[in-house]
Amino acid sequence: MHTPLSNRLKNPNMTKPETQTDSQNHFLLDNHLPEIGLQAMREEVMEGLKDTPRCIPSKYFYDREGSALFEEITRLPEYYLSRTEKAILSTLWNKLAIDAHNLHIIELGSGDCSKIQLLLREIPANALSTVTYHPVDISSNVLKESAGKLTQQFPHLTVHGLVADFMHQIHLLPHAHKRLFCFFGSTIGNFGKSEINALMERLGTLMTNGDYLLLGLDMIKEIDVLEAAYNDKQGVTERFNKNMLKVVNELLGADFHPGLFNHRAFYNEENHRIEMHLDAREDMMVTFGFNNSTIEIKAGENIHTENSHKFDRGHIRNMGEMAGLSVGHVFTDPEEWFSLVLYSKQAVPKKPGGS
Ligand code: TRP
Repeated sequence: MHTPLSNRLKNPNMTKPETQTDSQNHFLLDNHLPEIGLQAMREEVMEGLKDTPRCIPSKYFYDREGSALFEEITRLPEYYLSRTEKAILSTLWNKLAIDAHNLHIIELGSGDCSKIQLLLREIPANALSTVTYHPVDISSNVLKESAGKLTQQFPHLTVHGLVADFMHQIHLLPHAHKRLFCFFGSTIGNFGKSEINALMERLGTLMTNGDYLLLGLDMIKEIDVLEAAYNDKQGVTERFNKNMLKVVNELLGADFHPGLFNHRAFYNEENHRIEMHLDAREDMMVTFGFNNSTIEIKAGENIHTENSHKFDRGHIRNMGEMAGLSVGHVFTDPEEWFSLVLYSKQAVPKKPGGS
């Protein structure tokens, strides 16, 4: 077993974040990534690459080019996820029946903030001016840009962003009364099964009575539909997958040639997930400048780059139970391709007859 990244943080509890204010756009940004440190990130990637089977954590998809390619994916005809989720979100706010007054909205993996604005624009202006929005993302560039745009769109909204890896730095999420945690895009499905459970458990522990979690989940459906979404005709997903090797080259001073790999994505029925791999076309040596090491990859060997778990109603209930949260409502489209699940934390009922 690897040492979890969270155990290797430089100073888990005491480091001050690098805080930036944007005087023009009125938002605050705390960068906590330096606490994890470049070295720990490099070691995390290196360990995965040496593992059997080899893998790279999916957060390393998202440099500037990776984020742009992902945005392109969300517009592909085959990629129904973003479209379907946005259609649900666009009429959702009033159905949630959450009082927006002094609400703290915390969005994990906020990306371009295009989803949250669908909720925010339905909140009446007088209430919106009391809302604080906390976007949390691993990419400070993406966060800066999107927070800037959002404050222009909603000038009275308070925005306080957090650059962090929420898997390892969940303790940094704002402590406040009345929080709505949002985790869209079925991004939770991109973690491993045990990580999904761990994350739900940690969120459940962190939440108190009156907090909500709005979780976006891609549902199990016909295999053809699922597989087409990750094998688009234009090859954008293929470029996205291979771009990860460029991110690794940059981070570890490595010399992967993306052209020596094939993109492969398929539905693993037993584990309810799409898997993405990069298959080596020929034998190769890869060198890593940061620690002067090499690894040998044989033709046909694969690097597992992504899981995208798919869910059903049973999973939705189980995840709630795992986290000690109750399922308030499942909002979905007519075909039930995508779901937005509202979980809440209920007060522990008093024992009958107890004092
Ligand atoms: N969470 C989304 C999904 O599982 C987005 C995503 C993450 C994605 N990694 C991806 C989409 C890789 C395409 C390829 O679909």
